[in-house]
Amino acid sequence: MTKRSACQMIDVEHQSAEPPEATARARMLAEVDEGLRRDQKEIPPKYFYDQRGSKLFEEITNLPEYYLTRAERRLLESWTSQWIDEFGPVTLVELGAGSAEKTRILLEAMQERVAAPTYVPIDISEEFLAEQSTILRKQYPRLQVIPVATDMTTSFQVPADLGRPAIIALLGSTIGNFEPGPAARLLGQARSAMTRHDRFLMGVDLEKDAQVLERAYNDARGTTARFNLNLLRVLNRELGADFDLQDFQHQAFYNADEHRIEMHLVARRGLTVTIPGAGSYRFASGETIRTEISCKFDRQRVADLFLQSGFTIDRWVVGADGFALVMGTPMD
Ligand code: AVJ
Repeated sequence: MTKRSACQMIDVEHQSAEPPEATARARMLAEVDEGLRRDQKEIPPKYFYDQRGSKLFEEITNLPEYYLTRAERRLLESWTSQWIDEFGPVTLVELGAGSAEKTRILLEAMQERVAAPTYVPIDISEEFLAEQSTILRKQYPRLQVIPVATDMTTSFQVPADLGRPAIIALLGSTIGNFEPGPAARLLGQARSAMTRHDRFLMGVDLEKDAQVLERAYNDARGTTARFNLNLLRVLNRELGADFDLQDFQHQAFYNADEHRIEMHLVARRGLTVTIPGAGSYRFASGETIRTEISCKFDRQRVADLFLQSGFTIDRWVVGADGFALVMGTPMD
């Protein structure tokens, strides 16, 4: 094996495609500055997920109002072994690796059929990836785990020489965080990492009664509000911003025209926030930062998205809660 072969990449503990810390911080600073200068102030939702944010999201997935995670898990439990039997994947690449809890359903189905499957979790949080990888390696000694720490919203690469066929998974309604253009680009990236016999597996939340949707993002315990406000803590810690969390309020509503839940942080009074090295940002009373969009789909909108990014719908299953699992096949 030559030094520069792809196998060498496989040997390293966590291969990091992320730039060094200073560059990552500079990029965050630039993105946040750019977002806060817009008419509708905006911050990318990927910054929710520091350690506390990841914990809070985990809590959200267990809330009675947040049906998405349970719905997807049920679908995975009903369908994966059949699909894996059919396609015989030896590799699972997961975009936005999450808690790996639902991943286990896939991994266990693969393990029953393949002696030594490979799992490639791709996530922005290197710390989280390392933690999850250690746990998985312990739990599944035959599993080869190749974590890739990178921001999948910019670009990502999978190690060459991966065993095929592979499943590339984007679960948990993660795609909902992207506007149509960026969503198609992300799927296009996934497509270019795939061979003809691979499959793309995606979990999407479907459009439904606005009350049900809004309840899922305005839970009675206030966990989603804490999750939303945690973003300001992240900005204070990482960028030295001077947000006072008391000055902002959680808001989530369904925007029917855009088919999406929007989460905002509403300024309770007129104020100015300063980020050293970037600038000062004026908020009128009641002005908001949009912190997340969570798009809700129907089959047609998924088909359109797939068409734009080089997939056709191969399987489409819907659970009782109005959540869908969709499998895409690369178009020639
Ligand atoms: C992880 C992006 C799928 O949009 O439902 C949950 C994040 N935000 N509650 C979603 C989230 C507020 C979640 N995703």
